[in-house]
Amino acid sequence: MSETSPKAILLADYAPYPFVVDHVALHFALNPTQTRVKAKLSLAPNPAAPSGQDMRLDGEKLILKSLALNGTPLDLTPDDTGLTIPAALIPAGPFTLETEVEISPQTNTSLDGLYMSGGMYCTQCEAQGFRKITFYPDRPDVMARFDVTMDTDMPVQLSNGNPTGPGAWHDPWPKPAYLFALVAGNLVAYSDRFTTMSGREVALNIYVRPGDEGKCAYAMDSLIRSMKWDEEVYGREYDLDIFNIVAVDDFNMGAMENKGLNIFNSKLVLATPETATDDDYARIEAVIAHEYFHNWTGNRITCRDWFQLCLKEGLTVYRDQQFSGDMRSHAVKRIEDVLTLRARQFREDGGPLAHAVRPDSYVEINNFYTATIYEKGAEVIGMLKALVGEAGYKAALDLYFDRHDGDAATIEDWLQVFEDATGRDLTQFKHWYTQAGTPRVTVTDDFKNGTYTLHLEQKNPPTPGQPHKDPKVIPVAVGLLNPNGDEVVPTRVLELTQARQSFVFEGLASRPVPSILRGFSAPVVLERDSSATERAFLLAHDTDPFNKWEAGRALAKEVLIAKITRGAATPPDWLAAVETVTFDDSLDPAFRALTLRLPGEDDIAQTLHAAGHVPDPAAIHAARQAMLDDLAQALRARLPALVAALATPGPFDPGAVAAGRRALRLGALALLSRLDAGVAARAAYDSANSMTEQMGALAVLLDIGQGADQSAAFRRQWQADRLVMDKWFALQVSYAAPEATAAITRALTEDKDFDWKNPNRFRAVIASLSGNHAGFHHASGDSYRLLADWLIRLDPVNPQTAARMSSAFETWPRYDADRQALIRAELARIQATKGLSRNLGEMVGRMLGA
Ligand code: TRP
Ligand code: ZN
Repeated sequence: MSETSPKAILLADYAPYPFVVDHVALHFALNPTQTRVKAKLSLAPNPAAPSGQDMRLDGEKLILKSLALNGTPLDLTPDDTGLTIPAALIPAGPFTLETEVEISPQTNTSLDGLYMSGGMYCTQCEAQGFRKITFYPDRPDVMARFDVTMDTDMPVQLSNGNPTGPGAWHDPWPKPAYLFALVAGNLVAYSDRFTTMSGREVALNIYVRPGDEGKCAYAMDSLIRSMKWDEEVYGREYDLDIFNIVAVDDFNMGAMENKGLNIFNSKLVLATPETATDDDYARIEAVIAHEYFHNWTGNRITCRDWFQLCLKEGLTVYRDQQFSGDMRSHAVKRIEDVLTLRARQFREDGGPLAHAVRPDSYVEINNFYTATIYEKGAEVIGMLKALVGEAGYKAALDLYFDRHDGDAATIEDWLQVFEDATGRDLTQFKHWYTQAGTPRVTVTDDFKNGTYTLHLEQKNPPTPGQPHKDPKVIPVAVGLLNPNGDEVVPTRVLELTQARQSFVFEGLASRPVPSILRGFSAPVVLERDSSATERAFLLAHDTDPFNKWEAGRALAKEVLIAKITRGAATPPDWLAAVETVTFDDSLDPAFRALTLRLPGEDDIAQTLHAAGHVPDPAAIHAARQAMLDDLAQALRARLPALVAALATPGPFDPGAVAAGRRALRLGALALLSRLDAGVAARAAYDSANSMTEQMGALAVLLDIGQGADQSAAFRRQWQADRLVMDKWFALQVSYAAPEATAAITRALTEDKDFDWKNPNRFRAVIASLSGNHAGFHHASGDSYRLLADWLIRLDPVNPQTAARMSSAFETWPRYDADRQALIRAELARIQATKGLSRNLGEMVGRMLGA
């Protein structure tokens, strides 16, 4: 435990800041170890707050050099977290406050605040990094206009807003401090232009290190398509003369939406066919869009406080998902999003870190940038839209932008625009924001005299701090199929609002087959005693592409679970059903690839646990491997032709259709390699003309315990490319055999190229360790120890990333008593570490059930 347990911040304690900041003038004299920051704040009492209060300014690790109020020096001493100016010294009207501080970007390894990456200065201020730059009310409801100047010999000098001179920037839009950004470095721009819907010209630049200019075309194309899409779909136009993106190698997360100056992890900008996979291209497109969309959902309308984080993140994820669907395939995008939701958010919701989409307390806000806030936050918006309809959603969003532009808003404001625009009462719907946990919906049915009845029951399991839950309003999209495969009742949305409810369909000639929760219309676990025949029927006939895939997925899971729990053989009808889809040329190859992909081991463990079993990681691994062997055998005669037919010769096309063909080809190759000892995969490796194919073939080889030569060649070829070398490190760990995983990982952490202070490299190795389910949960506990060692080592250097990676331990309650004891011992060891950060301290405390 850290010396003093930091106390929780409560939503209920919200109070407006007693002062308004009208304007901020910042000047940076940049220096690696002695940067001087001068700030001049123009302030006035906040008429919306009680008068006569002290002024508290946040500030961390700042050396205060001077302080003056209305030009008169003040002799005050800051404490560890900031500076208080007593009310007695503050005039009743407008006043100025000037400070000068010294900071050291070079030694700031937290990658939060002002820091250096590869010789360039850059900033990260969300959520509370600005307080490491200057004394300021670092909270999102304090919005000010910023002017920035800097003094440095770096050739490129950037900040928010429009340029007013060399190294001088003016941002006309009031913004909270978390959207501040500054970059200065030896960078080159890849440039283009965009003309907005009202005819304004916007200069677009992507700044990268010299030599990387040739890797920006796809990111730029994605940006231009995002700008156009937001105009066409949401009526939102860009609002500055310039939009800059900077790629940075050392970055804690994906990217950051700073006003007019988005800063990106370089892996989400740089792409060439030779170095980036199809998944990388898809992520670049999605994250470029996400950060751009924040300009309206996050920046023009921001959050009142950090409890409202989902207001900007859930909505912006929802918007980027819509965009990716429009750019690619809605069906495939929805399936991928649900896969992520279940893998990350359902997992979080089912364990000790479960929290509401809008939490009501936190210790360290950086620990709440979670799958629940982002992904479930987006699902909640999808449900709102399902309930109010397309037109209602549009009217509500128009009202939201109209009413709240320039505001720091709340979830209450958000729900109010839906109520006002549609007349719908959302009191019950709000439970989705305030109550954690994944509802379970059980479905039974009966059929009598042409009347078909669906009986739905919802259960809302307890989560930490929330023993009791109220029934939620759950939109359940349902369609009915005839036994001949025709749709007799097209999709309609049933609204489940009670614990138990029945829905009647009349006038049916025969008992229909129900297709329930179409499009995954709510983030729930659907439980239905369905037969394998019914699932196979839906896989063959469902007109809803999500449920078609879901039927195959459920079937595969049932087969796997029967194998694990009863040693059951792989049933021939499952093999036949997968074969039919795999070779059905009328279906999108991307969809077929998804159907061919078996559920992952962590997903199976989650499912077993929910069904009351104790998952055995080794047994899960063995069963899944056996099932893949059976599938390969069943498809053996047709695999070589499929692999050959799906080759994508000619110039690389990053589009969804070509990517889908590559995905299906690699799926087929993975099966074929189980039969031909890797011959086809070695050929595919040698003839690869994209990173998707090269890395895909290498992964296939490593998965069957081969590929040592290719792995060594890959490393030699890509030695100089950091992003590709991250892939190499990740592959070594991801495909390590269970009993060798800890040793292989440990050896990689001793490799000369293991730069553990770089989050991408750290994640490539350490997150792959926890991602290798059977290896991580090996009975020896070696992997648990290794992870804990590295978290303890990283914590003082980069607490945000250490805390984020600690959630690998969140699933401990699923496993047997021995594993539980091993993991809890590691958590306790971390907790006992002297000087533990608030970030990691909160995470381990919650996981241990403190
Ligand atoms: N707001 C960012 C996004 O979702 C994410 C973010 C929050 C972030 N905190 C961060 C990114 C810290 C990097 C570092 O787009
Ligand atoms: Zn975001």
